Amino acid sequence: MPVKRKAATRTASTAKPSNATKARATKPVAAGAKGAPKAGEAKFARSRELFKQANSLVAGGISSQIRRGELPVPLFFERAQGAYMWDVDGNKYVDYVMAMGPNLFGHAPQFITDAVTEDMKSGYSFAGQFQKELEVAEMVREAVPLKGLVRFASSGTEIDQLALRLARGFTGRPKYVKFEGHYHGWVDTVLVSVHPPLGKAGPAKSPTPVPESLGVAPGALQDIIIAPWNDLSALEAIFKKQGMEIACVLMEPILGNTNFIMPKPGYLEGVQALCRKYGSLFVFDEVITGFRVALGGAQEVTGIVPDLATYAKALAGGFPIAMLLGREEIMKLVGDGSVYHGGSFNSNVMSISAAHASLTHIMEDPARFYKDLNGRGLALMDGLRDAARRTESDFHVQGIGSFFGTSFTTKEEITDYRDHARFCDDAKHRRFVQAMLERGVRLATNGRWHMSSAHTDEDIEKTISAAHDALRAI
Ligand SMILES: Cc1ncc(COP(=O)(O)O)c(C=O)c1O
Repeated sequence: MPVKRKAATRTASTAKPSNATKARATKPVAAGAKGAPKAGEAKFARSRELFKQANSLVAGGISSQIRRGELPVPLFFERAQGAYMWDVDGNKYVDYVMAMGPNLFGHAPQFITDAVTEDMKSGYSFAGQFQKELEVAEMVREAVPLKGLVRFASSGTEIDQLALRLARGFTGRPKYVKFEGHYHGWVDTVLVSVHPPLGKAGPAKSPTPVPESLGVAPGALQDIIIAPWNDLSALEAIFKKQGMEIACVLMEPILGNTNFIMPKPGYLEGVQALCRKYGSLFVFDEVITGFRVALGGAQEVTGIVPDLATYAKALAGGFPIAMLLGREEIMKLVGDGSVYHGGSFNSNVMSISAAHASLTHIMEDPARFYKDLNGRGLALMDGLRDAARRTESDFHVQGIGSFFGTSFTTKEEITDYRDHARFCDDAKHRRFVQAMLERGVRLATNGRWHMSSAHTDEDIEKTISAAHDALRAI
């Protein structure tokens, strides 16, 4: 059956070129400019039309579940550059989704495009070694406090799987500790108790593992011990009971998938001491924090060096990559193949080239890069808090600049998942995200804001003003 390239009927106001090439060539029209669509229903008409068509071709109309939450409709985009995106209706957005974190330098930075374009002339995927891998590994060794060996892969989900397998292989133990509110990918061994309904989540100190999807293998739950984060006494009790079965403790060292939550003072030190006492490995999931919060990621910010750490998003400025970094004596099990790891696309030319360009760019002057990135984020956070004060809203901002979380709550500080589930109004936040989209600012539906080095003072001003209006409107 031929693929329907366009909707059968169109109104004159939403008419677009009929083929994909022409559509791509259409020059975006800024929202509010002459020729731009009107606000309201018409504003997202073409995305609505394409989404309707997508639903008959792609399951749910989207290819990653979180995208389904974009309101009023999951958008289709024509172009993205720097801090901005343009949708198929010609609306322009200041973007803070930033591909959910990877786009540390904004969309399609020229220096990455140039490097990748040049390198890919020699080939795309070798299923063999590419010399730049070694330079990337050397830069990582210089940048990150944890020193050891690396392995490259293609997504955060799969690299966390390698970390878990390696921890089990190294210790010979079956179980691992996962925390409520933390996300480590979409596969069975980790898609448990990310954001469980409180009614099913069991006691706060020893939560019940709750699968987040139909079809999660029941067996997977047996080897996961769910713990509340930022609660050392709860973890101590778990170790006392099952310590000798625990291969590792896996965590987001700065929690980015529930609000934005810093570890309490002394918490990571306490977790590390427990791991050492019982011979378990301590694993940082730095998929969000790596190369985003600082050159040395959460390790640099918190001063804690784990046994293993996983990376993905910001490592290659928007190209798909992931990396496991670990102490040499542990990683040698991956090296000799006794802990198996593979992947056709691992260390492909484009991804390694992008990682090389990204790290080279940052490492020219890391102090300045992160001061600038975090500084801009802090200025935006201050402006948003001020907008909340002026509108007498319970809008709440929590973070450290390069990424932060927003929610609606009267609580002073959110310190764990249950705090968030009890005291934050997620439905109101969804309305806020939609109100911002209508005002030309695109936010992630989970409340996480990603700064990029492409965001300007002017973008920040525009965002604060949009937030002020959106808060008033909702
Ligand atoms: C902390 C963390 N770990 C792992 C993942 C999974 O990464 P990916 O989406 O690349 O599979 C994510 C994705 O958002 C994440 O935030």
